[in-house]
Amino acid sequence: GSTLQAAAGESGRYFGTAIAANRLSDSTYSTIANREFNMVTAENEMKMDATEPNQNQFSYGNADRIVNWARSNGKQVRGHALAWHSQQPGWMQNMSGTSLRNAMLNHVTQVATYYRGKIHTWDVVNEAFADGSSGGRRDSNLQRTGNDWIEAAFRAARAADPGAKLCYNDYNTDNWSHAKTQGVYNMVRDFKSRGVPIDCVGFQAHFNSGNPVPSNYDVTLRNFAALGVDVQITELDIEGSGSSQAQQYQGVVQACLSVARCTGITVWGVRDSDSWRASGTPLLFDGSGNKKAAYTSVLNQL
Ligand code: XIL
Repeated sequence: GSTLQAAAGESGRYFGTAIAANRLSDSTYSTIANREFNMVTAENEMKMDATEPNQNQFSYGNADRIVNWARSNGKQVRGHALAWHSQQPGWMQNMSGTSLRNAMLNHVTQVATYYRGKIHTWDVVNEAFADGSSGGRRDSNLQRTGNDWIEAAFRAARAADPGAKLCYNDYNTDNWSHAKTQGVYNMVRDFKSRGVPIDCVGFQAHFNSGNPVPSNYDVTLRNFAALGVDVQITELDIEGSGSSQAQQYQGVVQACLSVARCTGITVWGVRDSDSWRASGTPLLFDGSGNKKAAYTSVLNQL
């Protein structure tokens, strides 16, 4: 294949990117995005603050812009994200207890129902585990409604859109020996054993020198897949440049390709200048839209 989507397609996988609605009018951006990628994640437009800015008043304008662009260009959509401690609307941030639980479940139900049939995979719950050595849940207003909030969100999402794949998504879960990885693994194993509807696990894969691509990434992906879920790289970016960056990207692709149930890779933006990172050059295209060494190594590895 001569594009990322074509090359990934040779092994039945997808290659995706995060899309920002306000960049779609930039033709350099949309030309690259349309040519290279066949899976789209809204970078911010489907988050709780964007889709429910006031309680029970839903707002889908920017999310629809992305979904319509994707669908009219033959691409699929990863929905991101139904429930998360971050980027909550103001009204939700100070809620607690039963009213917060019900508001969260209502949000999951409303948004997943609105997009029923149009979403390949939902990130149902994002970033619910703590960093560090505990392996436990992250403290948040949602977590304080009870440890079962995650499974409640998954059940609500399944009921609202039975055709969508349902993912748990997190970061720093790439290294098999990290406590956070083990914590998520144990939750997924528990969900599978009790019939909680979960289909996949997303690995954000935001890497930098302090958090490099682990050499055991394939082990992590394989162990999760062995629980009976698909795995996906969902927000890949790697700080750095040149051949060192290219090699690390290659390692991520290699790890995914070595696991049959690793079904796709998404990078978190198109050009370096589109990245959420304040500085640095973590993506596959430079600020002018030129292919970087990292692009070539990914394409050749796929
Ligand atoms: C980031 C976006 O890229 C930024 O534009 C926004 O300001 C903050 O969120 N993990 C996630 C993504 O799941 O939603 C985050 O996206 C990056 C970290």
